[in-house]
Amino acid sequence: MDWNSRYEKEDIPWEKGSHAPPLEEIARKLGDAFWAKRSVLVPGCGFGHDARWLARHGAEVTGLDVSGLAIEGAQARTEGENPTFQVGDFFKPESARYSVVFEHTCFCAIDPSDRATYASAVRRWLTPGGYLVAIFFLNPDHKGGPPFGCTLEELDHLFGADFEVEAEWEPQLTYPGREGREWIRILRKRDAP
Ligand SMILES: C[S@@+](CC[C@H](N)C(=O)[O-])C[C@H]1O[C@@H](n2cnc3c(N)ncnc32)[C@H](O)[C@@H]1O
Repeated sequence: MDWNSRYEKEDIPWEKGSHAPPLEEIARKLGDAFWAKRSVLVPGCGFGHDARWLARHGAEVTGLDVSGLAIEGAQARTEGENPTFQVGDFFKPESARYSVVFEHTCFCAIDPSDRATYASAVRRWLTPGGYLVAIFFLNPDHKGGPPFGCTLEELDHLFGADFEVEAEWEPQLTYPGREGREWIRILRKRDAP
């Protein structure tokens, strides 16, 4: 998928102009103190709405996207130095490590054959005992993609060996049209600090 050309053609139906509503449920569950000063990586950040929301809640956030146009759009919508945004491939972890990877609509965008690589990249980007805080797009009954659907069993298979599920639920707050299609999972990497 040539993501940059999608932005160039403005063929970006995922762009909703605001943060993902389930983030508010996640914040209620984890408490505001959870985000304070935490380093958070947002892969496939698009125009950065989630990244800015996390920064407003105290986290130190880096948004990452393979598309230069997405990153330009994110920077144009951001004042100040938090979040920062950079062009990069989530599948190629750098030396920086984060205490949280926040997933929203990156996992469902990649080809399903790359999911094991995605899971391994999450492990490598995270500090010991770090969290994967995820809004997974299950998208049941949808053929093809992106977005590509997935099942809870597949998530168990991909992350079960290295992550503990700390909480999970179906969000009630969603963008219109995503009702019943998303699943929140808070996962903690087993190698405790
Ligand atoms: C469906 S869009 C979602 C964007 C944003 N999360 C949102 O909800 O508005 C998927 C995003 O992931 C980016 N992306 C795809 N593969 C990536 C990769 N390997 N590394 C980083 N970003 C990637 C795309 O450029 C695109 O911006």
